[in-house]
Amino acid sequence: MGKTVGIGITGGIAAYKMADLVSKLKKDDIDVIVLMTEGACKFINPLTFKTLSGREVGTDLWTESLEWKVQHIGIAEELDLLVIAPATANFLAKMAHGLADDLLSTVVVANTAPVLVVPSMNTNMYNNPIVQDNIKTLKSYGYHLMDPDSGLLACGVTGKGRLPESDDIYQQIITLLFPRKDLAGKKIMVNAGTTCEDIDPVRFICNRGTGKMGFALAREASQRGAEVILVSGPSTLEAPPDVKFYSVWNAQEMCDIMLEYEPVCDVIIGAAAVGDFKIAKVAEQKMKKTDDRSGRLILELVENPDILKELGARKHDNLIMVGFAAETENVLENACKKLTSKNLDFIVANDVTMEGAGFAIDTNIVTFISKTGEVKKLPKMSKDMVAAAILDKVAELL
Ligand code: CTP
Repeated sequence: MGKTVGIGITGGIAAYKMADLVSKLKKDDIDVIVLMTEGACKFINPLTFKTLSGREVGTDLWTESLEWKVQHIGIAEELDLLVIAPATANFLAKMAHGLADDLLSTVVVANTAPVLVVPSMNTNMYNNPIVQDNIKTLKSYGYHLMDPDSGLLACGVTGKGRLPESDDIYQQIITLLFPRKDLAGKKIMVNAGTTCEDIDPVRFICNRGTGKMGFALAREASQRGAEVILVSGPSTLEAPPDVKFYSVWNAQEMCDIMLEYEPVCDVIIGAAAVGDFKIAKVAEQKMKKTDDRSGRLILELVENPDILKELGARKHDNLIMVGFAAETENVLENACKKLTSKNLDFIVANDVTMEGAGFAIDTNIVTFISKTGEVKKLPKMSKDMVAAAILDKVAELL
């Protein structure tokens, strides 16, 4: 299948189970590079994995490698997916804090491919709030975590902590390596970022929107096979490949493009922080400081179009519309009002004052509210994961 998976094994008794997984992957023509910590080597001999994978097994940062000039970088560059299984409490802590003091942890830090982490340990260790916090941190960075199974553990305790069956880990690997195309054939328009309204030729008003959420949605929708139109206000982010990209300045320009495409869309997602007001009369020349010494400047603002409301008013039968509600108080109540007034199918509400939510950061804490009244609260997640969850919901509705 032309893909390379890194299997990082850390020092837990379940390390031996990874032999079966490596063998399964190899049978499917997936190239496997096994990396083992010192602890893992105490449970199972690297020779087993060398034989099964047919490749050098990485165990030591300082040993000269025959395959790679700079071992940890060379390995990281080859990977389409990195799997850490079993992941011990110690290794989770190292990953959550970016420690890089052996071959596997340096590969984790150098790696840019998706990461799947499969913790396995004693139940009390797994339930320890510090371990749970580390797991949350890894999730917030966009790492994929598998829950351990429950059952009789090697330490004699019965509870949560067993490494999941290798078939389950294998399935998860395949899903991540060959992402779904469940949005194929659908046209999805997303808006993103802030909008800007000129005051004069050198000044303008904008807001804290950066485009992170909207760009994540566009990227995920495109990866899942949709034809994507991304309309964004000024942003430093790079538009994802294979997306029809419109860079606009103000709310009116954004609105015009979106109204034009609305009839051909299957889904519209309003992730932009659209400015509600613009300057009533933009000055043709640079405005000068007032001479009247009042120390005040009064700008008159007039309403911008409410883009989602306009789109919602002319919504055709098969169109799914999703909006965001950025709130600082009465989150659910305010979000419900927007859901109805903009004729949306569901709204993604977030309290932008919460730590880990809102503008210019990589995570968000959101609640989905459907027009059917269903409310689903999601934990703190990376914006990429929020985008995936929104598109799961969209796919369900489609
Ligand atoms: N929105 C829009 N056009 C506007 C303002 C907002 O399309 N002029 C969209 C946003 O993209 C978002 C949703 O409407 O999906 C809610 O935006 P938000 O800023 O939370 O609310 P507003 O409708 O602007 O209301 P308020 O500022 O009073 O909270």
